[in-house]
Amino acid sequence: MKHSTPTTTVAPVLSVEGLSRDFNIPVPFLRRLVPGRPRPVFRAVTDVSFEIPRGQTYALVGESGSGKSTIARMVVGLTRPTAGVVRIAGHDLFAPDARDTRQAMRRRIQMVFQDPQASLNPRWRVEAIVGEPIRAFGLASGRALAARVAGHLETVGLSAADARKYPHEFSGGQRQRIAIARALASEPEFIVCDEPTSALDVSVQAQVLNLLRTLQSDLGLTYLFISHDLAVVRHMAQRVGVLQRGILVEEADTKTFFAGPKAEYSQMLLSAVPKIRKGTDE
Ligand SMILES: Nc1ncnc2c1ncn2[C@@H]1O[C@H](COP(=O)(O)OP(=O)(O)OP(=O)(O)O)[C@@H](O)[C@H]1O
Ligand SMILES: [Mg+2]
Repeated sequence: MKHSTPTTTVAPVLSVEGLSRDFNIPVPFLRRLVPGRPRPVFRAVTDVSFEIPRGQTYALVGESGSGKSTIARMVVGLTRPTAGVVRIAGHDLFAPDARDTRQAMRRRIQMVFQDPQASLNPRWRVEAIVGEPIRAFGLASGRALAARVAGHLETVGLSAADARKYPHEFSGGQRQRIAIARALASEPEFIVCDEPTSALDVSVQAQVLNLLRTLQSDLGLTYLFISHDLAVVRHMAQRVGVLQRGILVEEADTKTFFAGPKAEYSQMLLSAVPKIRKGTDE
């Protein structure tokens, strides 16, 4: 079995190839009893391929239901693809014997979700929320763990004293900072951000986006950035992929894309950006 990647080329942090995912469609009970009828399936993602080089941001855009989160979940190992390959730094995440790989990759891949309210355990203090990955991956314990938590909180613009508080004591923007601190706690190299600012007030969206950008350049992070807000994508990504009903209909460098998207669907998405935000991407 081949077990080494060529040393001359650096594998992209993420590469997905021919990724597809089907979901079963619920059928009425009686119809399920009809023999010989295959269970109907809905193909949420069809034959999607792209890659993200180290230190870059790839944006996945598309309307609601186009399959963005399904791709995100496959890329972090939470949902198994029906077909196709996900490689993280050259390692096949779903190879038949990849349990250990998935386990090892868990520390290196993290995810930031849309709604920090739902992604943070309301009964845990911030110190437990941010400290949990550090403990789980055996990165530190005791005082060293507390010091790490304090460090991560400061990195995301909160204070060490915030460690004693509960999520409800923070604003939405601050809660998303806690979620980011938690994502950083396992010292990942790749973070999937699924609509990280969509649930936030417009006034704090830019702060959180700028934080993500600063972290990227300081820590050399690679992002898969999911959004339906093209103004945000323009600000964040080097490359854009456009999903329409699970199919990647266009892929281009951000500059090229915004200069003139090719697919009709991309043009439609772009024309839906409120005029007032066009060209105000800083
Ligand atoms: N676990 C599941 N079981 C059945 N269908 C699912 C499941 N997860 C997603 N789907 C379906 O797959 C399609 C893609 O969903 P997905 O959540 O990936 O969309 P999305 O692009 O992230 O949308 P949004 O912008 O609203 O978050 C949808 O039609 C959804 O109903
Ligand atoms: Mg989604």
